[in-house]
Amino acid sequence: MSDSAAETALWDQRYARPGYFHGTEPNAFLVEHAGLLTGSVLALAEGEGRNAVFLAERGLHVLAVDFSRVGLAKARRLAAERGVRIRTRLADLADYTPAPGRYGGVVAICAHLPSRVRQRLNPRIVRALRPGGVLLLESYSDKQFGRGGPPDPDTLPSAAALRAEWAGLEIVLLREVERAACERPGHAALGAMVQLIARKPG
Ligand SMILES: C[S@@+](CC[C@H](N)C(=O)[O-])C[C@H]1O[C@@H](n2cnc3c(N)ncnc32)[C@H](O)[C@@H]1O
Repeated sequence: MSDSAAETALWDQRYARPGYFHGTEPNAFLVEHAGLLTGSVLALAEGEGRNAVFLAERGLHVLAVDFSRVGLAKARRLAAERGVRIRTRLADLADYTPAPGRYGGVVAICAHLPSRVRQRLNPRIVRALRPGGVLLLESYSDKQFGRGGPPDPDTLPSAAALRAEWAGLEIVLLREVERAACERPGHAALGAMVQLIARKPG
């Protein structure tokens, strides 16, 4: 089994359990800044859809992308239960190319992608944003390594790494915070997070 197939199987297993792995409440950083997003929004590594559904409830047109078939099925179910529509796309972000110039926002919450995937994907995300479009990203940072969460340090970017990786965008906010994050019902431990808001010039 390839690394990617093994990761997909892992997430499918997690999402096959009853309930929602990250709950159904949207990510708090996203809630705080969702007003910056307009029109069509691409939600990367969106899993069971808590953030996509929240954005659809705000009247945004959301495409949720993930490589977990089980997660996306639950995302569609959550949307139906809430009476909103989202679109889903089953894809590995390692070789995903979103439509250029289409999105007023891109959201990446706790995506934890390895650097080889980010190197290929990030320029495509910059191209997919409309001029003025906004990227909202929150992730465990390198300071979380060894404290629980993703075991591979390559998936935990520092603020400096994010600044370099998103050089094609204007940084609006880039900060490291300690908070209970990547919301897990019943897990209140503080995590070392990095938060980024960046805008496409133009
Ligand atoms: C920690 S969960 C976060 C889910 C969601 N963003 C949230 O905040 O509830 C990470 C998600 O990334 C997805 N993922 C990881 N690597 C991926 C890849 N290469 N392509 C697509 N999805 C991926 C997993 O399936 C999982 O749904």
